[in-house]
Amino acid sequence: MIEVKDIYKSFGENQVLRGLSLNIYPGETLAVIGRSGCGKSVLLKHIMGLLRPDSGTVTVEGYDINKIKEIDLYELRKKFGFLFQGAALFDSMTVGDNISLPLIESDTKFTSTEIDKRVAEKLELVGLPGIEALKPAELSGGMRKRVGLARALITDPEYILYDEPTTGLDPIMSESIDNLVKDLSEKLKVTSIVVTHDMISVNIVASRVALAHEGKIYFTGTPQELASSEDELIKEFISRTL
Ligand SMILES: Nc1ncnc2c1ncn2[C@@H]1O[C@H](COP(=O)(O)OP(=O)(O)OP(=O)(O)O)[C@@H](O)[C@H]1O
Ligand SMILES: [Mg+2]
Repeated sequence: MIEVKDIYKSFGENQVLRGLSLNIYPGETLAVIGRSGCGKSVLLKHIMGLLRPDSGTVTVEGYDINKIKEIDLYELRKKFGFLFQGAALFDSMTVGDNISLPLIESDTKFTSTEIDKRVAEKLELVGLPGIEALKPAELSGGMRKRVGLARALITDPEYILYDEPTTGLDPIMSESIDNLVKDLSEKLKVTSIVVTHDMISVNIVASRVALAHEGKIYFTGTPQELASSEDELIKEFISRTL
């Protein structure tokens, strides 16, 4: 379980998180929605320990990630797969090398045959078998997201954090990524957090949804509860994003 408790984070004068609390329960797929710039990516970075809060705590499986030693944080990070906003592949490297990067960066002692086998497995899992030798420039936007996802999966994470997995994709490609996110959470029994501005995605992937607003979580509930809410702010948010 991940517990985010009362975190505050400012960048200079810009107070981004202002007492944000949120629990993420084992096995769930939690969608985090909110206006552009409200701090969704910043929240994900706190959960992974890439940013530290000014105050408040982030606890992963009982460990306060701002208090544990660097070496333990390193171990804890191995439990996470992260699909960055925009996929962030290295253009000069092949697809295969992009995917195996987290394995090579971690201290796991895989042989090159084992690495190749794992890369092939993950490409299969995201529906792109056999494309190891291609370069990112040869891929469509949807394929890049899938390769980013294969990279996020390479360490067999327990938690997968997705930052806008469908942004920039056409509706058909978006739906296929959404279905993939859903399939993976069912097949691999992972806990997922999906940051998105796409209400269609929310309805496909999420078991629960959290709406961030003014540095806090304004609402949590099922997608159905969100859709049927009578709250003015929620209604306005949904009508703007549809
Ligand atoms: N490293 C940083 N240094 C300074 N300001 C930052 C940094 N990271 C984020 N911010 C600021 O924090 C605010 C929240 O940014 P964040 O990227 O979390 O928004 P977001 O909700 O993910 O938006 P979007 O939906 O557009 O991706 C923004 O005002 C941004 O400029
Ligand atoms: Mg963002």
